[in-house]
Amino acid sequence: MTLSFAPASDPSLPLHVIAQSDLESWISDQPGSVATWVEHSGFTAGLGQTLLIPDADGAPSMALAGYGKPAGRARKRFPLAAAAEALPKGTYRIASGLSDDVLETECLGWLLTGYSFDRYASQSAAKARLVAPDGLDVARLEVLAKAEALIRDLVNTPASDMGPDQLQAASEALAQEFGASCSVIAGNDLLDQNFPMIHTVGRAAAQAPRLIEMNWGDAGPKLTLVGKGVCFDTGGLNLKPGSSMGLMKKDMGGAANVLGLARMIMALNLPLQLRVLIPAVENSVAGNAFRPGDILTSRKGLTVEINNTDAEGRLVLADALALADEGKPDLVISMATLTGAARVAVGADLAPFYTDSDKAADALTHAARAAADPVWRMPFHEPYEGMIEPGIADLDNAPAGGFAGSITAALFLRRFAVDSPYIHFDIYSWQRSKEPGRSKGGLGQGPRALLTALPEMLGL
Ligand code: BES
Ligand code: ZN
Ligand code: ZN
Repeated sequence: MTLSFAPASDPSLPLHVIAQSDLESWISDQPGSVATWVEHSGFTAGLGQTLLIPDADGAPSMALAGYGKPAGRARKRFPLAAAAEALPKGTYRIASGLSDDVLETECLGWLLTGYSFDRYASQSAAKARLVAPDGLDVARLEVLAKAEALIRDLVNTPASDMGPDQLQAASEALAQEFGASCSVIAGNDLLDQNFPMIHTVGRAAAQAPRLIEMNWGDAGPKLTLVGKGVCFDTGGLNLKPGSSMGLMKKDMGGAANVLGLARMIMALNLPLQLRVLIPAVENSVAGNAFRPGDILTSRKGLTVEINNTDAEGRLVLADALALADEGKPDLVISMATLTGAARVAVGADLAPFYTDSDKAADALTHAARAAADPVWRMPFHEPYEGMIEPGIADLDNAPAGGFAGSITAALFLRRFAVDSPYIHFDIYSWQRSKEPGRSKGGLGQGPRALLTALPEMLGL
């Protein structure tokens, strides 16, 4: 797996990126031998097509990458990555055809073609390497690629090797790499230190429930990231059917995404004070599992009626958000694979987010475009507040009927983050089938948009 640019000193083949509409004029500018080769090759500059062009000795002298039509490119996150994945092993430098406004995104996409998840079997990642074009912020793009690879690895690793123990170990390793501090409250200590809902959700599992905390940076605005670390979600006693449970190793996708974002922030040395909170649990089934009908008292003191043990994410997040809020940071961001309803609303590709701040929402919306990390604002719709109030307790964790399920989950979380500006992401963190630059499986959703928006949101 290579997630870096090739050294500029490496011998490299010039790569011409050619949109379909430009092919004819490009050919007409070439010497006769090149024009003849291209015309006989069947190369039409379709998106992802590639062609090597030989010199008089038969050695490659240049390469072509088809860049298709605007409508086809608009369907891809990283259009050039399609060609990058198809090119033969070697080192390339972009000689023409990419405009400045897409250069950064396309180079990131190229780097990400180097990702593969090969922990359990060797995989074939793309073999074509790129020399960074002049003027590109190489260090930043490599940081983004490495953080994305971290997220994918964490999500792809099954619960057998990514339980609360290993999620803690991954957090500690990240903290150590960047000189951050990391501490953990686990098992019965959660009760002693008043994190009752994290304990309740995770107490039936073989590995103890815990709250992982990481701190980094000692000056600048305070940013707290909270990530859902449900290492496996069986649904608890309201057990998920097998078809829904199959993917639930990825229910720590929120934790993976905040660790990825934390990695970016620390590697780029952003001038802020970072706190990361990860409630890490497995939502499992045993004699001591929590039950439908139970009423829990949260860290904040709000009582919660459990109407479905499968709505566990908001419970563990609620205690972590309450702690986040106590620190009165300048911004709290939670990321979680929280609801199926979010998928019904916007599908797998968009990362829906909630915030009361129009400024933050605008910053994120613009940043998402620049960062090739699409997000979509959803409403904290106040008239639905009544739906999360069951009467017998302060809050209902699973309102009957399921209407507006992503919104009611977001409203639930907001009850625990009342003293700090708050953004919540309800993400999928999974790529259902391979796309250029995006491997099938675990995937970052939102961290690049957030990183890009942070300067505006926090006044950095
Ligand atoms: N982890 C799931 C949400 C989920 C499901 C995310 C599928 C991505 C894909 C969460 O814990 C859950 O089960 N939520 C329930 C809540 C419901 C019982 C109120 C859901 O969305 O069905
Ligand atoms: Zn669940
Ligand atoms: Zn879950």
